[in-house]
Amino acid sequence: MKIGVIGAGRIGGNAARLFVAAGHEALLSFSRDQSRLEAAAAELGPRARAGTVAEAAAFGDVVFLSVPWTQVEAVLAEAGPLDGKIVIDTTNQFGREGWQALPGGATAAQLNQSRIPGARLVKSFNTLTAAFQASEAGRPAEQRVVLFMAGDDAEAKKVVADLIDDAGFTAVDLGGLADAAPLEAPRRPGALYGEEYRPAEAEAAVAALRAGRPLPPTPDYAAGA
Ligand SMILES: NC(=O)c1ccc[n+]([C@@H]2O[C@H](COP(=O)([O-])OP(=O)(O)OC[C@H]3O[C@@H](n4cnc5c(N)ncnc54)[C@H](OP(=O)(O)O)[C@@H]3O)[C@@H](O)[C@H]2O)c1
Repeated sequence: MKIGVIGAGRIGGNAARLFVAAGHEALLSFSRDQSRLEAAAAELGPRARAGTVAEAAAFGDVVFLSVPWTQVEAVLAEAGPLDGKIVIDTTNQFGREGWQALPGGATAAQLNQSRIPGARLVKSFNTLTAAFQASEAGRPAEQRVVLFMAGDDAEAKKVVADLIDDAGFTAVDLGGLADAAPLEAPRRPGALYGEEYRPAEAEAAVAALRAGRPLPPTPDYAAGA
């Protein structure tokens, strides 16, 4: 697939590396230093190149949005039309003052979808640190790290689930954008955000959330769970 990366930093740069290693093409964009972007793309080899935000948006069958929360509105304006595009939204709502509550009880994913109403937004790649995602991709099946996702478009989620698999993780679907709160910041009791889950425990956690039951205890794999 063609993947337009908007924000090739810690999360976006690592995802681009994993996607390209799996055979996809990537166009990296959005930097205060275009030469850094060129170098990052060159490092990924012939299936990657650098360009502008608008070029990444036009190039991608999938657009990987991975910029600081404070930059989202401006970068989407720069991107131009995203109608029909699958947008993987990795952003967490941390502003200059730290975590931000959102107006009207909306999830961050809903807020971003409202900024690009024609896009098919899937929230994912946002619950675990970039360092963890970089070091733990590609584990054997039962130990695979889960990347939760949420979105309102079932076909888009299927495409994103395949990309998550290609990147060396397992996708677990939490539900629609209105259900995304447990996978959004901050880390807190009763949420999935910030926690390592493997497939079996992730499915049990999602089943509990869907049934309105409290989450089972957070898995502690270091202790041999
Ligand atoms: N880091 C994590 O562990 C983590 C985990 C989960 C989710 N997230 C979320 O994923 C998103 C990206 O996080 P990240 O840690 O990958 O960020 P990052 O490493 O700082 O990357 C941000 C990207 O945006 C670019 N950028 C262009 N203009 C910018 C500006 N004015 N200010 C800041 N950056 C600018 C940066 O390029 P230049 O630096 O070359 O300018 C960089 O490629 C955020 O919404 C974050 O909350 C982060």
